[in-house]
Amino acid sequence: MESLPRTKSRKKFIELEKSEYVNVQIIDEQHKKFAELIDELYELLGLNKPETTKYILNQLITELQIHFNTEETFMKETKYVNFFSHKMEHDRFLKKIEDFRNGLLQGTDKLNLELLKSCKTWFHNHIKLNDKKLGDFLVEQNIQ
Ligand SMILES: [Fe+2]
Ligand SMILES: [Fe+2]
Repeated sequence: MESLPRTKSRKKFIELEKSEYVNVQIIDEQHKKFAELIDELYELLGLNKPETTKYILNQLITELQIHFNTEETFMKETKYVNFFSHKMEHDRFLKKIEDFRNGLLQGTDKLNLELLKSCKTWFHNHIKLNDKKLGDFLVEQNIQ
């Protein structure tokens, strides 16, 4: 008897919800990319693949820099009033991930579920509290 093919579908650890779309295409795509990279890190938990982990973490940092820069450029160009508080949230999160990467490189830190859970919480909260408002504002300015 042939065995059934192994299903590749699994519940994602983190996903961009439909309700989290900000309706500015480039921002939604970047948010999806962020969720995908966190999900890839989740898949690596407990596998002891330090090189792949470092590679994806570096990719995550690069994507975050690009993404935050995208939002901050939109905010500057439109003289968005909440620019500074929104940027501060970005800076704080980026520093946290960079500190973690440095710990990983120095061998003082290891990829762990707690970190990924905090990324997930930050992602959903930041979109809900900051990016959705920015998105509404940009759509009003005809930026989509
Ligand atoms: Fe943001
Ligand atoms: Fe964002």
